[in-house]
Formats: sequence, C-alpha cells, structure tokens
Amino acid sequence: MEIDLREHWFLGGVEIPGRLVLAPMAGVSVQAFRRQGRRYGAGLVCSEMVSVAGIQHRNERTLGYLRVAADEHPLAIQIFGSEPGAMAEAARLVEAAGADIVDMNFGCPVRKVTKTGAGASLLDDAGLACRLVEAVAGATSLPVSVKMRRGVANGSRTCLEVGPRLVEAGAASLTLHPRSARQMYTGTADHSLTAELVSLVDVPVIASGDITSRARAQAVLASTGAAAVMVGRAAQGNPWALREIMGDEREPTREEVAAELVLFIRETVRELGERRATGFLKKFYGWYLGRGRFPRPLKQELVQLPTVGDVERRLLSEAPGARFVLERLLDELPDPADEVLLDSLPISLYGGG
Ligand SMILES: Cc1cc2nc3c(=O)[nH]c(=O)nc-3n(C[C@H](O)[C@H](O)[C@H](O)COP(=O)(O)O)c2cc1C
Repeated sequence: MEIDLREHWFLGGVEIPGRLVLAPMAGVSVQAFRRQGRRYGAGLVCSEMVSVAGIQHRNERTLGYLRVAADEHPLAIQIFGSEPGAMAEAARLVEAAGADIVDMNFGCPVRKVTKTGAGASLLDDAGLACRLVEAVAGATSLPVSVKMRRGVANGSRTCLEVGPRLVEAGAASLTLHPRSARQMYTGTADHSLTAELVSLVDVPVIASGDITSRARAQAVLASTGAAAVMVGRAAQGNPWALREIMGDEREPTREEVAAELVLFIRETVRELGERRATGFLKKFYGWYLGRGRFPRPLKQELVQLPTVGDVERRLLSEAPGARFVLERLLDELPDPADEVLLDSLPISLYGGG
C-alpha cells in the first residue's frame, strides 16, 4: 500500500504539512534553496549548520544565516557547537529570528568541526551531548531536534544508545543519517538502524540518506516507521526530485529548468550580494543543467562568464520560452519584503557582504 506523503505530522507543537523534509546542506541550503524546496513539496526545510561561535562573536556572515523568509515556514535552523551556554544563547537568537524549530548538529564528520568537540564527535560523548540538548531545550520555547550519524566509527551503533538519552534530555525529534562519520558519504545509508531507532523512542524520527526517488522514499518509510524522509543531494539543482517523490512524475521542460535557475540566481544575489553569489552559484549550474537537460558545454560556458547577468542572458537565449515560465513564477512568489529580520542585526547584512 502506498504511504501518503501529504499526511501532516507534529514535531513538538509544530505541524509539518507533509512527510518530505529538505536536508540541511552547508554551502547549499540558502534561503532561495529552502523556499524552492517548500514550493516543490517539502513539508519542512532546514538551514545549513550555523556556527554557535560565529553567533557569539556576532559574525556578520553567520548572522546572515539566521534570515527567515515568510514563505519558508515551517523552518528549522541548525546550530553546531560544543559549549552548553553558547548553544543556549544561540537557540534564543534562532527563536528571535523567527525559526520554528532549533535543530542541533551531532552529525557533521568534517575535521574542522569535530576537532572542536562539535558535530559527530558528540556521539562519543553522550554526557556532553545530553547537557547540550538540555541547555538548548531549556533556553527556547521552540521544539528542539537533533540530527546525527550512526556513530563515529564504521559499523557503530552508538546512535541507538545515545538517541533515547537525547530524547530524555529534551529532544522532540531525531533525524538519523545512518552512515558513520568515518564513512563521510561513501557506502550506503543503513536504514535498518533507523527502524531500530524508531522502535526505541517515542518521538518522530526522520530518515536521511540515499532517498533519491518516490520508490525509495516509500520503501524507507514503510520499512522504518519513520515520520518523514529527508532528501539532500538528490534535490541539488533538482527540485523536480521533490515533486517526483511527492507523486508528480513529470520531467521538467528545458524552459522550466532555465526559469528556475534564473529565479534561483536572482534570489541568491538578493540574499548574498552579487560578489558572494557569483562564486556560490557556479556549482549549481552543473546540477541544474546536467541529467541530459542541456548540452554539456553550456555549463562550461556559464561558469566562465564574468557576471551573473551574463549567465541569465545566456540561459534565456538557450531557452527563450523560459521568460514566460519565469514571469509566472515571479507572479506566484510573495513579496520579498516579508522577511523577518532581527532588529539588532547590522544593516550592511542585508546587502550580503
Ligand atoms: C554538501 C553537503 C552539505 C551538508 N551539510 C550538512 C549540514 O550543514 N548539516 C547537517 O546536518 N547535514 C549536512 N549534510 C548531510 C545531509 O543533510 C544528509 O544527511 C546527507 O547528505 C545524506 O542524505 P542524502 O543522501 O539525501 O544526500 C550535508 C550533505 C552534503 C552533501
């Protein structure tokens, strides 16, 4: 029997309108990506991991990650750190910024993060991990969720010991990406662990890892009993993967692809400023134009063009009908002025920087 991905569920007190979640991805999950994800069927979207140290130092770029748009709710903002007081303060700021959920990163395998005692290394220090969850849950009225790996070492089952303790400490939901930190992104996600975790806790569990199609989403939901599936890499430059998972199997036309990319470029420039956006966007050109949608040399051409304006003109010359799709998309979008912004943030933030 097919599982209904449109079914609503609750994360703490927050109603999530669907069982598909867009993954947090550093260097990818900007506001434009999250808003697009909501339009294509994600019931919940998540910011990339935000440094608690950066928040503490009021680092301008870090604070920029706390910008929330009116049309991306429900939204989780993910924080990473290893010091309970600083995590609590960051959680208060996340709430003030207008997020619906505070997500804590206990999964990042990158050395720069783990060597500070944050990310996946917390799975080897359950005591500290629980104190962090307690501190954050005590500091905010928002539900607190935790995203984690199966453990640090290959074959680890640590998530099954730590997970229930995190729930006791106050986590209202757990997301499991069942690869070890050591694996990084190699091998496959072992969702038999997700099923075990579901049986051990009485909060919703989100299954992350290798969900690339409707068939896979259905199989993982059915075999694990998870509340939702999370999609990461499959949605990079490909919101149509979300649409397919939600049950609409139409392949996008070239015009749709070009229009979505142009919109993504414009929105990202608005968010990051043109200088930062120019470099940030380059990886997206291959992601959007690949999968046999456009001839390969076009991507090479786009990454070499000096300005994003040139990229937009080139895309529209390659798929002229995209103009009309773009007009329709722009008509449907809410006013960008509806953003929730923290009063205390420096004004220069709004220009990107
Ligand atoms: C480029 C990239 C950046 C990521 N950044 C984060 C992050 O900031 N926080 C996090 O919890 N997970 C992060 N992840 C992990 C994803 O959220 C997800 O758990 C993982 O990619 C497995 O799902 P997938 O197979 O659908 O991609 C990242 C993954 C990728 C590929």
